[in-house]
Amino acid sequence: MKVDVLLGLQWGDEGKGKVVDVLTPKYDLVTRFQGGPNAGHTLEFNGEKYVLRSIPSGIFQGGKVNIIGNGVVLDPLLFKNEAEALAASGHDLTKRLYISKKAHLILPTHRVLDAAYEAAKGDSKIGTTGKGIGPTYTDKISRNGVRVGDILYNFEEKYAIAKAKHEKILKSLNYEYDITELEREWFAGIEYLKQFNLVDSEHVINKAIAEGKSVLAEGAQGTMLDIDFGSYPFVTSSSTICAGSCAGMGVAPNKIGDVYGIFKAYCTRVGAGPFPTESFDEVGDQLCTLGHEFGSVTGRKRRTGWIDLVALRYAVMINGVTKLIMMKSDVMDTFETIKACVAYKLNDGTETPDFPFDITEGVEPIYVEMPGWQTDMTKMTSENEFPEEYNAYLSFLEDQLGVPIKIVSVGPDRDQTIIRYED
Ligand code: GDP
Ligand code: IMO
Ligand code: MG
Repeated sequence: MKVDVLLGLQWGDEGKGKVVDVLTPKYDLVTRFQGGPNAGHTLEFNGEKYVLRSIPSGIFQGGKVNIIGNGVVLDPLLFKNEAEALAASGHDLTKRLYISKKAHLILPTHRVLDAAYEAAKGDSKIGTTGKGIGPTYTDKISRNGVRVGDILYNFEEKYAIAKAKHEKILKSLNYEYDITELEREWFAGIEYLKQFNLVDSEHVINKAIAEGKSVLAEGAQGTMLDIDFGSYPFVTSSSTICAGSCAGMGVAPNKIGDVYGIFKAYCTRVGAGPFPTESFDEVGDQLCTLGHEFGSVTGRKRRTGWIDLVALRYAVMINGVTKLIMMKSDVMDTFETIKACVAYKLNDGTETPDFPFDITEGVEPIYVEMPGWQTDMTKMTSENEFPEEYNAYLSFLEDQLGVPIKIVSVGPDRDQTIIRYED
C-alpha cells in the first residue's frame, strides 16, 4: 500500500497531533519525518491531555508501531523526559517505538548555539523554540552532524569532535554558557535511547509497504515554516512539505498516496515574521482567548488573525493536497461575521491571488465577509446537524482551495471529530 502524509498548511499548530491520533486505527504504522522537539502535538481523550514533541502521535492507538524517521532531529534528554512521562502514565513504548539510526542528534551545544545565534540577530530574531533545531540541521547539511546510529560505536570521540567545533564558534561569538549539568543529563538520555529499536527505518517502512501494510506520515510545523517555501528567513530549518516526507522517511515519491492538508478555520503564528492577516483588534483577542492560543511547547502567546486563502492555496499547490482537514471552527461559533482573505493588494496597487516572493511589507489582505453560524457546534457528531451558514463556509473554502474538506474538528477531544465522507 501507499504512504498517506498528514501535514500542516499554515504556520504550525493546526491540530496535527489530534488528527493523527484519530486516523491511526486505519494504519499499521505511523512515522514522523522531520522537525524535532520544536513540535508540540496535543492529544486529548478520556479526559487526559498529552503533548508530544518527538514521539509520533499514533502511539496511543492499539499498540501500532511508531517510527521516528531519519529526517527528524532528536534530543535524547527531551526524548527521555517525554518517554518516561508516558511510561509513568501506563504507556510503555520500548517495543513499538522505532528510531532511525540516521536521525541526527541535537547536542547540548546545539541548544547553546541556537540561543547565541538568536542573541546575535538582535531585532531580527526568528523567535525560535530554542531547542537547537537550526544548528543541528546546519551541521547535518554541512556534514558535521552526529547521528543516532553513532551512539552504538565510539560515540565519545564523535561527540567530542562535534562539541569542539561548537565551542570554537561560541568563543568567536563571546557567548557565555555552562552546560556541565545539561551535558550529564544528556548523556543519561543517550544511555536511555539504547533500549529502543534503533533501526534503518527506510527498510522497515519500505518492507511494510511491500507487504501491503498502510503507513501514515506525520508532519511537524507547517508549510509556511518550510525552509524553501515558508516566509523565509522566519521559518524552521527542515523541509515540512510533502516532498520532504519522502526524504525524511526514505520513501519514493510514487509511493505517496493521499496528502492530508490540515488548517485552522482562522490563522495563528508563534514567533517572529510576517503574517498578513494578523489581527490587532478584539477579533484577534477573541481568537486567542477562545482558541487558547498559547504555544504547547513554549507557552508563548500565539498571534492570531483571519484565514489567509492566498497562503493556503499556495500550500495546497506545493504539497499536492488531496484531502483537507479543517480544525477549530468551534472557536468562531459565536462570531456574527467571518472574514477570509482571498487576495493580496501589493505596493504597486495590483491585486494578486498568488503568494508572492516577499510578504514582509506592502501586502494588504483583501477580505470577503460572510455571516457567522452563531451555533454551538462542539457536541455535533454528524454533518447533517451543520447550520446553513457553516455549510456555506465549507463550500466557499472548497471552492477557493479546489480540494474537498474531508474532516472537520469541533473541539480538542478525539471524539469531537466529524468525518464528512468515507473513501
Ligand atoms: P499541532 O502542533 O498541529 O499538533 O497542534 P497543537 O497541539 O500545537 O495546537 C492545537 C491546539 O488546539 C491544541 O491545544 C489542541 O488540543 C487544540 N485543538 C485541536 N483541535 C481543536 C478543535 O477543533 N477545537 C478546539 N477548540 N481546539 C482544538
Ligand atoms: P508544531 O509541529 C508552531 C516556529 C518557531 C519559530 C520558527 C523557527 O507544533 O506545529 P525553530 O525552533 O524551529 O528553529 O523555530 O518556527 N515553530 C513552530 N511554530 N508550531 C511548531 O511546531 C513550530 N516549530 C517551530 O516559533 O518562529
Ligand atoms: Mg504544535
